[in-house]
Amino acid sequence: MKRVTLIFTWILITGSLLTARADEGLWIPLLIEQLNIQNMQENGFKLTADNIYSINNSSMKDAVMIFGGGCTAELISDEGLIITNHHCGYRRIQQHSTMDHDYLTNGFWAMSGEEELPNPGLTVTFLKWMEDVTDTVMSGVTNAMNEQRRDEMIQSNIAGIIQNTLDSTHYKVHVEPFFAGNQYFLLVEEVFRDVRLVGAPPSAIGKFGGDTDNWMWPRHTGDFSLFRIYADSNNLPTDFSPDNVPYKPAEYFPVSLKGVQPDDFTIVFGYPGRTYEYVPSYHIKMLTEDIYPRLIAIRDQKLEIMNRDMDKDPKVRIQYSAKSASISNSWKRWIGEIKGLNKLHALEKKEKFENDFQNWVDSDPETKAKYHNLLSDYEKLYARYAQYRLANDYIREVFYRKEVFYRNGTELVSFSGRFHKLVQMVEKGDSDEKINEIVEDLKKTTINFYKNYNLPTDKKIFVAMLRMLDENMGTEFQPSFYINLYSNYHDNYEKYASRIYKKTLFVHQDQVLEILSSPKKSDINKIKNDPVYLLFESVDDLYSSKIFPEYNRLAGDLNKFNRLYMAAQMEFQEDKIFYPDANSTLRLSYGKVKGYKPRDAVYYKFYTTIEGIIEKDNPEIYDYNVPDKLKELFAKNDYGRYAENGELHVCFIATNHTTGGNSGSPVINAEGHLVGVNFDRAWEGVMSDLMFNPDQCRNISLDIRYALFIIDKFAGAGYLLEEMELVE
Ligand code: ARG
Ligand code: ASP
Repeated sequence: MKRVTLIFTWILITGSLLTARADEGLWIPLLIEQLNIQNMQENGFKLTADNIYSINNSSMKDAVMIFGGGCTAELISDEGLIITNHHCGYRRIQQHSTMDHDYLTNGFWAMSGEEELPNPGLTVTFLKWMEDVTDTVMSGVTNAMNEQRRDEMIQSNIAGIIQNTLDSTHYKVHVEPFFAGNQYFLLVEEVFRDVRLVGAPPSAIGKFGGDTDNWMWPRHTGDFSLFRIYADSNNLPTDFSPDNVPYKPAEYFPVSLKGVQPDDFTIVFGYPGRTYEYVPSYHIKMLTEDIYPRLIAIRDQKLEIMNRDMDKDPKVRIQYSAKSASISNSWKRWIGEIKGLNKLHALEKKEKFENDFQNWVDSDPETKAKYHNLLSDYEKLYARYAQYRLANDYIREVFYRKEVFYRNGTELVSFSGRFHKLVQMVEKGDSDEKINEIVEDLKKTTINFYKNYNLPTDKKIFVAMLRMLDENMGTEFQPSFYINLYSNYHDNYEKYASRIYKKTLFVHQDQVLEILSSPKKSDINKIKNDPVYLLFESVDDLYSSKIFPEYNRLAGDLNKFNRLYMAAQMEFQEDKIFYPDANSTLRLSYGKVKGYKPRDAVYYKFYTTIEGIIEKDNPEIYDYNVPDKLKELFAKNDYGRYAENGELHVCFIATNHTTGGNSGSPVINAEGHLVGVNFDRAWEGVMSDLMFNPDQCRNISLDIRYALFIIDKFAGAGYLLEEMELVE
């Protein structure tokens, strides 16, 4: 593969000649030595590339981990203590909460090892080493192969690499594409399975500002929680057991009490999820003109309905706060992304780039032969892809997401879909044992579902969603039940919803549980004829037969174009150092502590203080209800050694490139000490997933001293600081 070799040689020969610049970039730890360290040191970093990533010695990477599914955490003691965000530990904290022990509201602090709470299913994952395996993955792959053949070859090569590695380790092994499939890395990981909750502040601190302040600067959220990793007597991963002992890590972060100053060098080291920096203008156009505005409009309605009901009834607030927070999170980011991209003239910039690119392509017979039609073919593909992407996203947003039954669409339809598998199994005549297994699962699902279900809220959302789908999508993308809705109800959504909700068994928890106590053929028939379940089937049929296959096919074509365009961009800009888009693997970004100018006449300072918390205090507003204890500490100026010139700093911003998944990442100073915990980005810069702008893009971090202050002064759990290495 010529293109791949090209990237290799590019890395090899340019490594010493060119180095990357600060701010933008999600860099691969293995390549820091070649690509970044010189520039990092010029920007103030005092350590070496080996201190960041090494396979022979312990290094920072040994102190950074994936926390659960989608966050980052880091070790802060040699006894397995880790810190991540409150919003990353939220679900675990909630699971341990009851009316008597409401840790979400009151916080939780284990006063000894025995009091730490196990979390079945929660894991943390460390990178042991990574390796460029592009040559092996590509062996036998030729340009003459069609995509399917090519893919099979690659998958079989990957399977070989994985098998070889597994033969010699007990670790978890996988191979991931980088640069849209122009390069491949092997990742070898160690997964720990006994991770216990150690401490969490009350939500009034850990989630202070709620969705109102989410994605915004100035920010005053104490977004952290503490966990501990346990291992067996050989310091190896194991399932939970009371005999397990705290994990002894190879490396942990000393915690700095020095704080940060403007222009201080900072590293964020963590697990960014997905970015799209190299897409063509058609992608930006599709998102900002077709996809985002419609998804935003759907969520506007959902949030309006939920928030109104939550304000009216405290029970509904508890039931719907996690749902509305997750709906609100992307909703708000999309709005910010559109604004940010427009302000940056992202579309025009991409178009100009494409123009220059095309001129370069056509200036040479060799590149012309390879790439002449690339952009025009891309554009044609996007015209169709955008239609199906919209249909796909729309159906999933309005009704449910098939893979996870994410409770975000119409809840009852989504819930009834959970019984689809049971219906199939009973009809197929599967063994009692198999059926029992799924029935037990469904019982748990059912109980959890109704605990957080409010029928009037769901019904209002259902009506609103029926209308949205009708008004915004062509009939080819509407489920078959719309025919009945049109002809028998004349678009009277309320009437239709009332009928359905009146007749369905799924609004009755007792009836559902009754069926699950011993499901008989007649029960299965009841489910199959249930009006809500029929809606589910109608949606499922549309999605599985008309939308997903074509969407998936087009996405496959797009992958190929992305791969070609990525390689072509690297040839075109041969002097530029590229970083690969985020793909949930360990990355490092570096930047500087810095304020910014969000709009005309306004300049934002780089840090916030406890003053701002008190300014926002309002017991009437849920998100701004400051705990009394915090107000007392403020009144007495009782900040101990955590203050700086009499001020207690809460959060700070810097120019590090981050994205979703970077939550909980360590923010590290020039000496390699922990100064903060990353948790968000500022509103004006959230378009950084598509285009980074160093003037506007800021990551938001919790000042680690505020976390220490809360642990010590607010919670009286100062003994936890004894195991940390504090740097004065
Ligand atoms: N915006 C942050 C991130 O994307 C925090 C989200 C959690 N907080 C919230 N209020 N929804 O994860
Ligand atoms: N809040 C995000 C997270 O949870 C981080 C971000 O998108 O900046 O990963």
